[in-house]
Amino acid sequence: MKLFDKIIKHSERVGRGAEREVYALSDDYVLKIVKQRRVDLQGDQNKLELKVHQECPDHLRYLLCPITAHFYRNQIPMIIMERRPCLTDLDKRELRKTKNRLQSESRRVGENKDFDLLEVYFQINGLTGYKEFKQDVIQLCEMFTLSVRECLNVANNWGVKPDGRIQYIDYGGKESWKERERK
Ligand SMILES: Nc1ncnc2c1ncn2[C@@H]1O[C@H](COP(=O)(O)OP(=O)(O)O)[C@@H](O)[C@H]1O
Ligand SMILES: [Mg+2]
Repeated sequence: MKLFDKIIKHSERVGRGAEREVYALSDDYVLKIVKQRRVDLQGDQNKLELKVHQECPDHLRYLLCPITAHFYRNQIPMIIMERRPCLTDLDKRELRKTKNRLQSESRRVGENKDFDLLEVYFQINGLTGYKEFKQDVIQLCEMFTLSVRECLNVANNWGVKPDGRIQYIDYGGKESWKERERK
């Protein structure tokens, strides 16, 4: 058996997205590979993630969970990334519950504010600076045509650093044609 297949066989799978599977290499690192049955995509998500990591301007780099190394298999990059607990592993139910509470309070006072899931995370954890954070996220998305919706509202695309700040762990997703049309 090839070394790569051995690694996959003996590693715990910690996550699965629409296009990639993610294996724990240790407590600190994960390996992100393209799903076997999605080879039709030619590794587009890993390619984009790598490009974003390589070309991201310094002032936005704090948003990205670092890629530690990459290597190629059949011209498709395989990514080794720092391992983070996901937002959903921590408090998916609390996020939803608090979001609903904040929105109904806002409706009651006639504001009708729509809270992003990440904004709710900031509130629950007493983090400041959501406005600037969101501006940076939008700038990053526009720069690389990433999906803003996926970014701000899909909690399992975010990982938590030991200091409680959050970093994007799935920055390989392009915005959909629907999002593009809405602009
Ligand atoms: N750096 C990471 N540390 C820990 N878990 C991760 C990491 N990156 C991804 N995952 C887990 O794997 C899942 C799938 O990875 P993701 O990058 O979102 O793939 P896809 O692009 O197919 O959605 C994530 O939802 C998350 O649960
Ligand atoms: Mg994902």
